[in-house]
Amino acid sequence: MIPFNDLRAQYLAIKSEIDAAVARTLDSGWYILGQEVAAFEQEFAAYLANPQPANGVEAPGATGELAPAALGCVAVNSGTDALQLALMACDVGQGDEVITVAHTAVATAAAISLTGATPIFVDVDPITYTMAPSALEMAITPRTKAIIPVHLYGHPAALQPILALARRHHLRVIEDCAQAHGARYQGQTLGTLGDLGCFSFYPTKNLGALGDGGAVVSHDRHLLDRVRLLREYGWTPQARYVSQVQGMNSRLDELQAAILRVKLHHLDEWNQTRRTLALHYGQSLPATVRKPVERSDSYHVYHLYVVQTPHRDKLRTRLQAAGIGTAIHYPVPIHQQPAYAPLANYSGPANALNETEHLAQTILSLPLHPMLTSDEIEQIAVAVATALAT
Ligand SMILES: Cc1ncc(COP(=O)(O)O)c(C=O)c1O
Repeated sequence: MIPFNDLRAQYLAIKSEIDAAVARTLDSGWYILGQEVAAFEQEFAAYLANPQPANGVEAPGATGELAPAALGCVAVNSGTDALQLALMACDVGQGDEVITVAHTAVATAAAISLTGATPIFVDVDPITYTMAPSALEMAITPRTKAIIPVHLYGHPAALQPILALARRHHLRVIEDCAQAHGARYQGQTLGTLGDLGCFSFYPTKNLGALGDGGAVVSHDRHLLDRVRLLREYGWTPQARYVSQVQGMNSRLDELQAAILRVKLHHLDEWNQTRRTLALHYGQSLPATVRKPVERSDSYHVYHLYVVQTPHRDKLRTRLQAAGIGTAIHYPVPIHQQPAYAPLANYSGPANALNETEHLAQTILSLPLHPMLTSDEIEQIAVAVATALAT
């Protein structure tokens, strides 16, 4: 049996550190938005702002360019909340349109529609499965307020053309980094390139809590102050119980923050393990499946290892019979889901979602997590080859 994921093994690998953090927090007597959350916000912002050189690509700061304003972080209750709060901070609401992709977790579209705005879907690029910049310009209308590129599976979306287009049209860019903690684009960590970056700490993520959690990061103090205000009913620290704006409750609890602080220390090492295992898959899997690609300007963190084959359903059934867990991310594109089909303005040649619809029929996520072993990769590769041989 090789399960799709093994969160218990990850916990056991760092049990003493996690247990100490939990005990410290329980002992503190303070359980929501306290010192652990404040420390995590600082540490996560520092981690994102100071990338190590990777793939030989130097971070722009290292070449003597002017450094941007310090990156800040506001911890919230989930990745969905992070996206919704980021949109609210940008004054996105009723009557506005936000462009994103339909090949993503439904949370991306949910966050948009929860603000009252309409999600507009553009197609994805067949190589990286992320937003196709070529589809973007045609989707912009006078109602467009923001673009949400999704760094799907741990690979960066093509941010340079997306940011350039957004600048030309005065649109906000909110990066959905829920699957890409520590991934880099042209040497910079994802989440730091757009107006705001949004993270999920759902337990299976590359940086996962032991419950729900999320964060918004930005260089823009004004936007971040808005997120902080909206996170807790529109209260300011000076005037609790008096709402300055209509906000929500999206507080991160101290236990999750303490756990995330422990896990943050392991993130780079776990991402490196994911990359090594992905390389191993690349060498071992048969040519009958299409393997993920890493663009030369990118540092992929392989949140998921997604292969493509026209015989996806047969492969999945046969792997299941061989005791190997798999998943499909995602089986139904958002514009075809009952809740979103009537809402979404996706029709017409400008927004044809051919690649998105093709992917939903052909993709399969194989097991990939930091506790997986090289032996297991070998077993899975053999099972894939056998399953597709007849
Ligand atoms: C791409 C993407 N965006 C947003 C989210 C939402 O995060 P959460 O589950 O923490 O609300 C997720 C995770 O499920 C995701 O994978």
